Parts: sequence; structure tokens; C-alpha cells
Amino acid sequence: MVLIRLPLLTKLTTTMRIFPSVRLKSPYSPHRLFSTPAQDSPLAGIRVLDLTRIVAGPFCTMILGDLGAEVLKIEMPNSGDEARKWGPPFIEGTSESCYFLSLNRNKKSVCINLKSDTGREIIYELVKKCDVLIENYVPGKLKSLGLSYEDVKDIAPHLIYCSLTGYGPNGPYSKRPGYDVIASSVGGLIHITGPKGGEPCKVGVAMTDIATGLYAHGAIMAALLQRVRTGKGQKIDCDLLSTQVACLINIGSNYLNGGLEAVRRGTEHGSIVPYQAFPTSDGHYLTVGAGSDHLFKALCKKLDMEELSTDPRFSNNAMRVKNRNILITLLRERFQQKTLSEWLKILEDSQFPYGPVNNMSQVFNDPHIEAIGLIKEVQHPVGKTVKLVGPPVQYSDSVNAVRLPPPLLGQHTADVLKEILDYSEEKIQELQSSGVVQ
Ligand SMILES: *[C@@H]1O[C@H](CO)[C@@H](O)[C@H](O)[C@H]1NC(C)=O
Repeated sequence: MVLIRLPLLTKLTTTMRIFPSVRLKSPYSPHRLFSTPAQDSPLAGIRVLDLTRIVAGPFCTMILGDLGAEVLKIEMPNSGDEARKWGPPFIEGTSESCYFLSLNRNKKSVCINLKSDTGREIIYELVKKCDVLIENYVPGKLKSLGLSYEDVKDIAPHLIYCSLTGYGPNGPYSKRPGYDVIASSVGGLIHITGPKGGEPCKVGVAMTDIATGLYAHGAIMAALLQRVRTGKGQKIDCDLLSTQVACLINIGSNYLNGGLEAVRRGTEHGSIVPYQAFPTSDGHYLTVGAGSDHLFKALCKKLDMEELSTDPRFSNNAMRVKNRNILITLLRERFQQKTLSEWLKILEDSQFPYGPVNNMSQVFNDPHIEAIGLIKEVQHPVGKTVKLVGPPVQYSDSVNAVRLPPPLLGQHTADVLKEILDYSEEKIQELQSSGVVQ
């Protein structure tokens, strides 16, 4: 079997394209398990050594995997990624958590004990064959294992090494462990989330982790592009707290530049009125947003309340913000007069944005979501079909896709050692029986 393995980008000069040629080599195809060939994907030929667990890191490497990178998910023998156990729910009749499924498709699971000398040597061999290393250990942990950037940059100068931490490499909190809910507390998100006058609330999913994973993915992409020019890798630091503070956007700027402290507002918007969810007569919620005077007029017309759009108290957005309580009371009363589905019919074809507040069954049965085929089904190695939310980004001339199901613990250890490092069966068995790999 012939395989296309792209050369490491270190060998390229500035005038070359990212993938100037393909080198044919046998017998290993890094993507032979992929049903959709990764060769058609933007990151075909890029190999990622993934030392991350839980959410932020795995979310980042899942995006890279969707885009065609070969992701080697390094896990501890026997235990693996903690999120494997984060259930119920589990896939029916198994101990594979639904949580883990959501973050780990398009990866190969390779179990190596990083705490053993031999395990570390295997990682040194792998970094030479990988383009990116990404990790989210507590600060200092990998240094104690001989796997910090300083430890590997000389043996793999082409390597892009991305660390995800709670607080970044500098500053008084740099040694603290990081968790989404803590970083979103310290970073202000929890303070601004929740009902007016009520307790602070956590956002329903780990948005700070997710945003950090997205920053990391973009940062790695840019470093890969820079490497085309320089031939060199580099260290990238992403952290939860900086990400969270950067994501305060207008709320942060309101304080920095307007001296305005932030308050919890439920679904309301601080600077746009109306822009929130309203309860309807059957208890279901409808969200509407009128971001301009023109759209406010259109909303009033649909609600049969045209007198509001000529009322001087509501004549422009600043006036509506000023008289928010009066206007919202009137709108709430109006929305209470019909059911959600009646309102949805009335609002059809509106110029302003609107939509129901959906629960999961409504989201996944939504006709639009069904029509675009966002939900993918893959055969999981336990013998069940699992459903995954596919990549939300499409390319006109490339493939961004679910190719591999989330792996079982250690499913690809032997394959990877044999095919990437040329280890013999014997050597692999030895490593297995001594517990270095699984
Ligand atoms: C989701 O919302 C729909 C419509 O209101 C309702 O019929 C259904 O019971 C809800 N599902 C769950 C699991 O609560």
C-alpha cells in the first residue's frame, strides 16, 4: 500500500507553498482508518501529539482532527482521560461516557506512562515526528517529567508546543491549577450571568474552556503558517483567565472606558432594548432583538403595537434603554397574550431576529438542524452507533469532517508505535508487559 506522508514543514523555504510536494513512502498510511480521506483536508499531513485531557485541550485538538490533522491522544495506561468516566450518561451498556464522546472524535488513543523513563523516551521519539504538541498539565508537571518546551525544543526545533493553563506562565496565580468554573469566576463571567437581582450563575456549558480551546486552535494555525516562513517551531501559551477577560468584550470596555460596573441582567442586553426573552401564554419563551430603530418599528408592527414606535419615550435606542422598564413591561404583557407557536407564526418573515428558547429535544429535532445534516452518526468500537455534532464550519474546496469515532483507551497504541516509530512486535509486547504502554 502506498502512502502519502507530507514532509515536516521545517524543510520548506519561504518561497515554497505549505505542501510543495508529497513524498511517497510505504507501508504506513497515517489516515488509513479514516473513511473520508484526510488528504482532502486543510491540515492533511500535520501530526499532533495531544497531551491534553478534560475539555479545553481536547476541544482544540478535536478541531484540528476535524480539519485533517492526525491527532495522537496520549493517555495514562489504565486510567486515561478523566472525562472518560464523567457519566452518567454513558453509551448504553458500556462505561464510555457521553461527555468523552463529545470531545474526542478524529483521534487515536495511545497509552504511554509518562512517569517512566522509557515512556519519556517514547515521547521524545514521537515529538520528532510530530508538528504540534499540546498539553494542559498543571504548571510545572511536565517540567518535572522532562517534557517541558525547554526539554524538547532542541530535539524537535520544528515543534509548535502549546501549553494550556489556568493563568499563564507569569503573574502571581501562574502556579494554580485552572478549571473552567474558577476561571469564569475570577474572570467576571459568573458575576454577569444570572437573573436580575439573583445569585451569580455558571453558563450552561464550559464556555471559558471552549473559548480557550478556540484561541489555542487559531494560535496553532498561525504558528504553522509562520513555520512555513521561518522553518522553526515555537512555544504558545494560552490560558483560561486571559481568555475569559478578553471575552468580556463590551462589558469589559464599558468598565474600562465608561466607568460602568456590570450587573446580571437575565436575558436582557445592557445597551440594546428590546433584546431578550419573553414568556408567552403557554410558559415557553421567545427571544426577540431589535438592534435599530427601524427594526423596533418592524417589531411594533408585528405585535400590533404601532403606537410604541411613535411614542417619544421609545423614539430611539438610547431612549428605550433609559425607559427600559416601562417598555419591557408593555412588551411582556403583549407576549403573554398568545402561545409560543402562535407568536412564531405571526413573526414569520420578520426583518428582526427572533427565535424560541429551545430545549435539547427541540434543538436536535429542529427542521433547520436536520436539513443541514449537522448531526453525524458513527460506528463506535463498542459496537454501537453514536451521534456527534459535526464540524460547524464548511470549506468550498476542502474537507472538514468526522472521520474516526472517539477511541477506546489505548486502541491505537500498538499501531502508532509500529507505524510511526517502526517498533517491532516484540518490543511493543515488552513495553506492554512492563506497563510502559497499554
Ligand atoms: C422540550 O420542550 C418540548 C416543547 O415544549 C416539550 O414537549 C418536551 O417535553 C421538552 N422535553 C423535555 C425532555 O423536557
